[in-house]
Amino acid sequence: MDNIILIGFMGCGKTTVGQQLAKRLKYDFLDTDKQIEHINGQPVSKIFETAGEAFFRKLETETVKELIGRLHHTVVSVGGGLPVTSGNAKLLKELGTVVYLETPREVLEARLLNDTTRPLLAGKDGLKNMSLLYDKRLPFYKAAADIRLETEGKSISEVVDCLQEIANNKI
Ligand code: S3P
Repeated sequence: MDNIILIGFMGCGKTTVGQQLAKRLKYDFLDTDKQIEHINGQPVSKIFETAGEAFFRKLETETVKELIGRLHHTVVSVGGGLPVTSGNAKLLKELGTVVYLETPREVLEARLLNDTTRPLLAGKDGLKNMSLLYDKRLPFYKAAADIRLETEGKSISEVVDCLQEIANNKI
């Protein structure tokens, strides 16, 4: 098992950290949202708008299934809701070593305050929805993770340092 899978709430830094980690390890990088957008030819927000969230969740599961077995030496950044869908935690563990980037709610709230790209945060109740989702998802992230990494107080590069060490010990 030679892939590293980054999970966590929207805004926890999965993509930025994942890209930098991949560079350091000389791994490939893949983002499940980008993969879905590439295959469907539409941004995630458009898929939500036209086909609905349930359809997007199906695409997420299909995407992970398709990656198992064919992906090697890759850091994978996973959409925030993907580990919550029933069965996906098991699939992620088949795909690689799953690391949960733990970030406190207040830090995420500050980062996501003016976000316009994520459909689940759209509208005036965006932050309230975020808080509800945060509570609901925490147990799923913890259950899906092989390793938990606290990111509070760490710069991106320090988080990448920790992940590099984990990768060196695990892979
Ligand atoms: C979602 C997170 C997004 C994206 C979609 C839904 C979620 O990815 O998959 O907007 O349900 O948390 P990021 O976690 O990369 O923002």
